[in-house]
Amino acid sequence: MSKTEITLNINGRDHCICVEARRTLADAIREECGQTGTHIGCEHGVCGACTVIVGNEPVRSCLMFAVQAAGKNIRTIEGLADGDEMHPMQRAFMEHHGLQCGFCTPGFLMLAVGVLEREPDISDEDLVDVLSSNLCRCTGYQNIIKAVRAAAKDMRAL
Ligand code: FES
Ligand code: FES
Repeated sequence: MSKTEITLNINGRDHCICVEARRTLADAIREECGQTGTHIGCEHGVCGACTVIVGNEPVRSCLMFAVQAAGKNIRTIEGLADGDEMHPMQRAFMEHHGLQCGFCTPGFLMLAVGVLEREPDISDEDLVDVLSSNLCRCTGYQNIIKAVRAAAKDMRAL
C-alpha cells in the first residue's frame, strides 16, 4: 500500500509524516507523532476516548483519516495546559473528582473544551446531552457533569 507524505499540525507543532490513506488520525497522532495522551477505546466511533479538536470542531479521531486532517490545526490533551497552568477544564475535573482511572478523561476534556469554545452559552440541558456522547466506565458521570458546569462558568469569565 503506498504512503503519502502529510503534515499534521498538533498543538502548534508540525509533524511531517508518511501514512497510508487508510491510517486513522487517532493512530497517526499516537504512533507517528508520539502524542499518546489521546486514547483509543472502541476504534469505531462509540466511546469518544479519542476525541481531539480539529479546526474548532471536536472530532472522534478514530473516525477521521489522518490525510483528512492534513494542514488543519489539531489540538490534543497535551496542548490544553498553558505551561504549568492547568486549563480551567482540567482544574475543574481535578477539583470535582471528574475522573477515576482517567482512560476516558482526555476525550471528555477535549469534547467539553471544543463545545464550550464554540458555544459558551450552551444550555445546561444541551451540555449534558453533548457529554452523554462519551463513555466512562468508572465515575457514574455525575462528577464529570459537575466539573464541566464549573469549568463552563470559569471559561465564560475569562
Ligand atoms: S476510540 Fe474513537 S470513539 Fe472510541
Ligand atoms: S474515569 Fe475510568 S473510564 Fe472514565
